[in-house]
Amino acid sequence: MVQKMGMKALVTGGAGFIGRWLVKRLLDEGVEVFVIDNLENGRESNLDEFKSNPLLKKVVYDDVLNAKALHSLFEFKPDVVYHLAAQINVHESLENPKKAYDLNITGTFNVLEECRALGSRVMLMGTCMVYDMAQSDKPISEQHPLKPCSPYAASKLSAEILAESYYHSYGLPVVICRPFNTYGPYQKYNMEGGVVSIFARKMLNGEDLLVYGDGKQTRDLLYVEDCTDFLYKASLCEEAFGQVINAGLGKDVAVIDLARMVCPDETRIKLVEHHHPQAEIIKLLCDYSKAKSILGWEPKVSLEEGIEKVKLQIQDSCVSV
Ligand SMILES: NC(=O)c1ccc[n+]([C@@H]2O[C@H](COP(=O)([O-])OP(=O)(O)OC[C@H]3O[C@@H](n4cnc5c(N)ncnc54)[C@H](O)[C@@H]3O)[C@@H](O)[C@H]2O)c1
Repeated sequence: MVQKMGMKALVTGGAGFIGRWLVKRLLDEGVEVFVIDNLENGRESNLDEFKSNPLLKKVVYDDVLNAKALHSLFEFKPDVVYHLAAQINVHESLENPKKAYDLNITGTFNVLEECRALGSRVMLMGTCMVYDMAQSDKPISEQHPLKPCSPYAASKLSAEILAESYYHSYGLPVVICRPFNTYGPYQKYNMEGGVVSIFARKMLNGEDLLVYGDGKQTRDLLYVEDCTDFLYKASLCEEAFGQVINAGLGKDVAVIDLARMVCPDETRIKLVEHHHPQAEIIKLLCDYSKAKSILGWEPKVSLEEGIEKVKLQIQDSCVSV
């Protein structure tokens, strides 16, 4: 375990969905936090709750591709950098692969170079979307075959390999975290990764829930605070450096069954044609035994509890508007 006292952390993408929860966790742990986010997909309001917290030292709304802006945050000498900023939309990456390449690879390169100069630890955010589908009930461990089915997946995998090379070449302490599909309050309703939020919002608005294809594709859905617990623990664990580690619930659910869990009225669930079936992973089921053995991490929030938390937050945000 590395020293936590007086720790300074930089979170790229800190005004995004997972970034917001990670900033919260770090502040709760007494860590000094710095954020860079260009608000491409994040929101200033995601950090409103923490504005008066003296541990939130600086928030810069700029781009990790802007080397000068990024460098300005390294003047604060972060001990650890959580690199979350990314182009996250699989569909968008199929239509505009260059954007995924520029941000997910060059952006990661910029971050790694700054970390190399300072010797900062790096928690690099990977994704389960780099894996081939799970076979029958055998969950996906870190040894599972890779199959990047989209420029998004390929760019995230390339970023991982680049980061691994900094571990081997320069001894930079890097841990690569691959969370499975993460959901929870504050996730946007318009993104592919936000299937729980999208369904919950439609359910509460009285709209139909649209399910791509036959809905039999499965997801292993990780509640966001379980995800940030994983990221935080991974960043503190020396044994994790140089390693790739998965985290998920360890249970998968077919998207059609998820729709039924969110909306018991079956007549409002409609199957629609898939836009990009080739980029779909038919079965995602996580084996998190490595996270359990190395980090002592396990998920705590069931899917049923998580869905209720998402619904509550959507209801609260509608009341407060
Ligand atoms: N949501 C999931 O299911 C999931 C699962 C596994 C991994 N991930 C990874 O987690 C990370 C965060 O994902 P998220 O779901 O919170 O998405 P998000 O879009 O809410 O967060 C990404 C943040 O990065 C910011 N950003 C984008 N381009 C930037 C740039 N050039 N410079 C600075 N900031 C920039 C965005 O504005 C956004 O706030 C990503 O790296 C994603 O690949 C997400």
